Amino acid sequence: MSSVMFDYTRQDASGESCTAHAWAKVPAPLTPDGRARARARAAELLAREQAVLVAHYYVDGDLQDLALETGGLVADSLEMARFGRDHPARTLVVAGVRFMGESAKILSPDKRVLMPDLEATCSLDLGCPPEAFSAFCDAHPDRQVVVYANTSAAVKARADWMVTSSCALAIVKHLKDQGQKILWAPDRHLGRYIQEQTGADMLMWNGECIVHDEFKGLELELLRRDHPDAQVLVHPESPQSVVEQAHVIGSTSQLLKAVVDGTAQTYIVATDRGILHRMRQLAPGKTLLEAPTAGNSATCKSCAHCPWMAMNGLQGVIDCLELGQGEIQVEEGIRRKALGCIDRMLDFVKRHPESVAQPSSGFVPKIGVA
Ligand code: 13P
Ligand code: SF4
Repeated sequence: MSSVMFDYTRQDASGESCTAHAWAKVPAPLTPDGRARARARAAELLAREQAVLVAHYYVDGDLQDLALETGGLVADSLEMARFGRDHPARTLVVAGVRFMGESAKILSPDKRVLMPDLEATCSLDLGCPPEAFSAFCDAHPDRQVVVYANTSAAVKARADWMVTSSCALAIVKHLKDQGQKILWAPDRHLGRYIQEQTGADMLMWNGECIVHDEFKGLELELLRRDHPDAQVLVHPESPQSVVEQAHVIGSTSQLLKAVVDGTAQTYIVATDRGILHRMRQLAPGKTLLEAPTAGNSATCKSCAHCPWMAMNGLQGVIDCLELGQGEIQVEEGIRRKALGCIDRMLDFVKRHPESVAQPSSGFVPKIGVA
């Protein structure tokens, strides 16, 4: 396996995309009355605008509940893309991070795609600037370019394939079986895991998710000693020392399915803690423990929560619907080029539904069928 180092500045000088800026924009918690009022107002506006709310598992629990109550969806990034494309609503409100809104717009250019906060981004997207990525691709024209969903539309416009965590393994295996060499970007942990599983020839970009990168292998081992019967569920954006201890490795939907379907009583969850909201709803009575992000082997303490996902709040949904703000735009030339790699993935999962673990019945309401 080869890899290329690309060191990027996480805290950009303008302050626009640094995590401190994101945390400063996280909405303050509402009072119980305020929450009820905001939820009712957001539901009213969704109905008035004939809009549907498409939310990721990591966003605030109120937004997840609102999405489900109003005929929308709470899901992983693959299901969000399919649902938004297939839903008849002319307005999609995407509660998540920017690449999710962009994917929705790329797939449905005639729909209005709104987001509660357009500055909600992702460290993987930030760490893969289109110009540098394009130069990387130019230097390796013999490779199929496979990019993770967590990238900008401009990066997708350079790619042959887009993948999400739920289908990356199957798609890379398919390419390897065809004798293809791969240029992979941007998540090095996911890339390493897939390379190890498939044996594919993969040249890697050196990006990471700042949330998953903080899970600690040593502390996880110690936690497992205290809970020897616990099942360990790990998102593959996590470091190797954590992935190696997993009973289940998968996308957010696949981890949720593991809790719902699993026979164990206790689960240690190595992904953003936002998913615990849905896990608790769908698997009441099971014990859910957050995988450790701190301890003696940690250089800093993180909270296992994505600051950009946390920027999504009820008021943001109200504002985007009431004021028409936060609309996603993707330049048409880029959109058309980026569509190719997303369509290729969606076509693959439609032809190979077995490649994506299917949700249990009733587990994700109103999921689009691959
Ligand atoms: P999923 O596709 O598993 O939902 O992951 C998206 C993401 O951003 C994880 O950090
Ligand atoms: Fe990006 Fe990580 Fe946040 Fe997911 S959790 S959106 S990969 S920074």
